Amino acid sequence: MNGDNLFLLLKQIKNHIIKTYNIMSAQNFLYLFGYTNGLSSASKQMQKISNNLVNNEIISMDKIEDQKLDDDFFQYQELLNIIKQDFKLNLYGYHGIYHWQRVFLNTQKLAKYYNVQSEVFELFSILHDSKRENEHLDINHGKRASEFVKKLIEEKYIKLNTRDEEQLIYACANHTKPDVTNPFYNDIIVQICFDADKMDIGRVGIVPDEKYFLTQYAKELIINSRNKQIYIY
Ligand SMILES: [Fe+2]
Repeated sequence: MNGDNLFLLLKQIKNHIIKTYNIMSAQNFLYLFGYTNGLSSASKQMQKISNNLVNNEIISMDKIEDQKLDDDFFQYQELLNIIKQDFKLNLYGYHGIYHWQRVFLNTQKLAKYYNVQSEVFELFSILHDSKRENEHLDINHGKRASEFVKKLIEEKYIKLNTRDEEQLIYACANHTKPDVTNPFYNDIIVQICFDADKMDIGRVGIVPDEKYFLTQYAKELIINSRNKQIYIY
């Protein structure tokens, strides 16, 4: 069976799953397929559809253009290459570069709403999961990411003002279990980073729950998307 036929067959199966069960099951299926078949053209296509599911339908993201999935998606190419060198997981897996892209797009959606801009958004997106050692429970990966950020700042791969540096370090270290007593917990830039990451949790089959989000706008997006009818193509 060639890639195109396989793709059509999988599309039919996927639509059947969506009709019979629910969108999250279909999404899990797409991801599982992507992982078990490496990076064939069919599975790459599946990843793209899956990304669109998360970003367009589940959380009403603006459409992701194909070119945005290319390597030059991010501004920090040199830094990205350094991150890739030591990345211990599948670069295209659950916590890999597609996730980083979606997190960044999510930050932009929230940032636009709150009328804020920051370089921290892109840096958080590409760094927060960069020191994961497994795809499951890795409670210290945020702390390791923040140590990595400090090293990158020292070595001048990251050049930010002091406030931005502190936001980035806090956001990376605390993105799974935040220190709520730290004043940065209430910082809008940090809150957008945390929410943008959680908005992508549908990729692992977990339906987002608004109670875990910090910004009101992210909560609204989650609530509005919950019962939305899903159509593929
Ligand atoms: Fe993440």
